[in-house]
Amino acid sequence: AAIEKGGFEHFMLKEIFEQPQTIFDSFRGRLDAEQHRITLSGLDAIQDRLLAARRIIIVACGTSWHAGLLAEYLIEELCRINVEVEYASEFRYRNPIVGPEDVIIAVSQSGETADTLVALENAKQQGATIFGVVNVVGSSIARMADAGAYTHAGPEIGVASTKAFTAQVIVLQLFALKLALLKGTISNDRFSKLVEGLHAVPSQVEWILTNELENIKAIAAKYKDASDFLYLGRGYNFPIALEGALKLKEISYIHAEGYPAAEMKHGPIALVDETLPVVFVATKDPYYDKIISNMQEIKARKGRLIAVVSEGDEVGATLAEDVMVVPEVDEIIAPLLSVIPLQLLSYYIGIERGVDVDKPRNLAKSVTVE
Ligand code: G6P
Repeated sequence: AAIEKGGFEHFMLKEIFEQPQTIFDSFRGRLDAEQHRITLSGLDAIQDRLLAARRIIIVACGTSWHAGLLAEYLIEELCRINVEVEYASEFRYRNPIVGPEDVIIAVSQSGETADTLVALENAKQQGATIFGVVNVVGSSIARMADAGAYTHAGPEIGVASTKAFTAQVIVLQLFALKLALLKGTISNDRFSKLVEGLHAVPSQVEWILTNELENIKAIAAKYKDASDFLYLGRGYNFPIALEGALKLKEISYIHAEGYPAAEMKHGPIALVDETLPVVFVATKDPYYDKIISNMQEIKARKGRLIAVVSEGDEVGATLAEDVMVVPEVDEIIAPLLSVIPLQLLSYYIGIERGVDVDKPRNLAKSVTVE
């Protein structure tokens, strides 16, 4: 088992550290940073139906749903097409309006999640086209989809998803960029910049893993006894706040909630006192000033501010008691970097608390019963 873990203490840590490679693997052969081209044969296969689609519906569970939420923001912004994101378990039973003009994107690491599978089967029967973003080759969802793109993250053993999530995000970004180009809703210049930006991600993830590890371990040790955490973000960092909170719950058993940063005024702010750690995902993006003012609001109520900030950011770094630094990149690419410190924070808090992080209680890697 020690050999399988490649010298790491747990599969989860190994899988976090594999991400520079797995992110590269998910765009290998698909992203050409020199010619500024994206090749996604699964998308080509349903190109006509995509271009004619009334809307795109994304169906998923758990961490995969968070990748789906991110994709809603991306596809609507870049492709100007209406996108809905649905929890498979709800979509399956609530008698949704679905028809031949809809394209469904199914996001699933295992390709075996029962609710997702049945939701897709229902939608397919109603004439919708299914595009699978799946990690496990030959899995049930991969087989029933009309077309798709594998995420190529390799086997994920840790129950809490890490490298499978970043691979899903990459594939969904490639999908959005390619579709935007086909629809003519993105400028060549922006397209080229984003293609180059994606190409740089593996080395930027490597940078975080190298430079921030000891810092994050120390932050984990400092906050390990908290009973609740709040995670806040705006825009593309909102799904990352949700994912950060989910990771912490899963492997530390600390109660955590993710919220859109401004929405916290409508409830969670009542929880803030000098014992509550509040993690802001506050990288430099068009919402930066807004999130800084949200940080000030928490600080005024004596919450313990922790923030993921862009390299060189003085303001966020001064406001927060503890910071985790990531390279500054385009807002569309930022989630791929800001999620890394949050994965590590959860991992080390879980370790501090003596949780079996690879197999946390009550959770299953793949939920094949409803
Ligand atoms: C379980 C796993 C999660 C995963 C979710 C959806 O809850 O523990 O890590 O995100 O199922 O699984 P899927 O395989 O469909 O992505």
